Amino acid sequence: CGQDSSDGQTGSGEGNGSGEATQKLVVGTDAAYAPFEYVEPSGDIAGFDIDILSAIAEEENLELDFQNTAWEGIFLALQNGERDVLISAVTITEERQQDMDFTDSYFEATQLIAVPADSDIESFADLEGKKVGVQTGTTGDIAVSGLLGATSNDINRYESTPVALMEMVNQGIDAVVADNVVILEYIKNNPDANFKSIHDDSFDVENYGIVVKKGNTELLDTLNSGLAKIKENGKYDEIYSKYFGE
Ligand code: ARG
Repeated sequence: CGQDSSDGQTGSGEGNGSGEATQKLVVGTDAAYAPFEYVEPSGDIAGFDIDILSAIAEEENLELDFQNTAWEGIFLALQNGERDVLISAVTITEERQQDMDFTDSYFEATQLIAVPADSDIESFADLEGKKVGVQTGTTGDIAVSGLLGATSNDINRYESTPVALMEMVNQGIDAVVADNVVILEYIKNNPDANFKSIHDDSFDVENYGIVVKKGNTELLDTLNSGLAKIKENGKYDEIYSKYFGE
């Protein structure tokens, strides 16, 4: 166990057994989910989630190393220690809480349906008998699996949400179900795709949390403390306005 912390550069935590003076956190994010996380033309990872966690890190003296991480392997990468933290618009669900720990909510979302502008689909129930695209293992996937049955051939699962939406441009599928803000952002940024969105009251309210390995209470407390501070000191609101206006 490292008692040598003479480098001085201290994080807020007293160490997590790694023996390092500086607490550098490797952060996993699936950066194909604008406006929450995306890759800029420069190659940098940016977005609402990135700014939120960076603001928390500043409050709590944490050093961050963001790593673009495929959604399908993202929870495994946390379990096996390749990532210390995940921020990736991850919805807090009871099932996920069995395997990992979530901070307090930092964003509220719900599912939304994207369809071609001339589609006759008007509600979630109308998706029965249609080809529906989702990002594998997301809450959109879970919702559609609930409606059509998890093994339905009508569910088309993709590695990313933009790929699912692209497939609708290419006429392969009839609808995509994903987080509301991400669908709206895609529609805004891709007017030529000619999509519309359909809201349905049957979708649950979802809350995004930052994720740590189950039992990593020290880091969880640090992140919650930082989150509370930025909600308190206006930094959260500033970041919110930058992405969502008002
Ligand atoms: N909120 C949804 C979920 O937790 C989708 C998150 C997908 N995030 C991403 N960066 N691709 O299942």
